[in-house]
Amino acid sequence: MDQPELKLLYSREYIADQVHRLAEEIDRDHGSREILLISVLKGSFLFFADLVRAISTPLAVDFIRLASYGSDTRTSGIVELRKDLEMSIEDRDVIIVEDIIDSGHTLEFLYYRLLQRGPRTLRICTLIDKRSRREVSIEADYVGMALEEGFVVGYGLDHDERYRNLPDIHLMEGA
Ligand code: IMP
Ligand code: MG
Repeated sequence: MDQPELKLLYSREYIADQVHRLAEEIDRDHGSREILLISVLKGSFLFFADLVRAISTPLAVDFIRLASYGSDTRTSGIVELRKDLEMSIEDRDVIIVEDIIDSGHTLEFLYYRLLQRGPRTLRICTLIDKRSRREVSIEADYVGMALEEGFVVGYGLDHDERYRNLPDIHLMEGA
C-alpha cells in the first residue's frame, strides 16, 4: 500500500492554545454550574482528555460511540449508535465534544436524539469545523479550528483507524 503524504497543519502547541481558549469559553458560559461533557468516540478521545483537564467548571464525563458509513473520507449520512451513554442527561447542562464536523450528518443524528432526553441545555464543542462542507444546518457553539478543505489525521483523528496517535494534526495529501 502506498504511504500517503502527511503535511503538518496544526502543531501540538497550536492545538494546546486552542484547547485552552475553548476551556475558557466554556468556563465563562457555565461558572460554577456543573456540566456534563460527552465524548463522541473514537475521534475525540485525545481532545476530550486535554479539554476536560483545562476546564475549571465542575464536570462529569460520559462516552458515546457512533459509526457512520461511507467511503473512507466521506460519510454517507447513515449513522448508527454503537454505544449509548451510561448517565441520564435530563435537566443537565450538556456539551457534546466532537473531533470534526464535516457534512454535519453525524452530529445532527446525535444532537436531536439527545435533545429528546430533556437536557437543560445542549451545546456542541468541536475541535475542527469544516463549515463549507455542511449538508445539514447544524452549528457548533465552541470551535477550535475552522478548516476550509482537506482530510486531516492525528491527535485522535484517523484514516482507516491509522494515525490517531500522532501528537500533531496533519493534512493527508491526495485523500
Ligand atoms: P460528518 O457526519 O460528515 O459531519 O462526519 C463527521 C465525522 O467524520 C467526524 O466525527 C470524523 O470522525 C469523520 N471525519 C470527517 N472529516 C474527517 C477528517 O478530515 N479526518 C478524520 N476524520 C474525519
Ligand atoms: Mg472518525
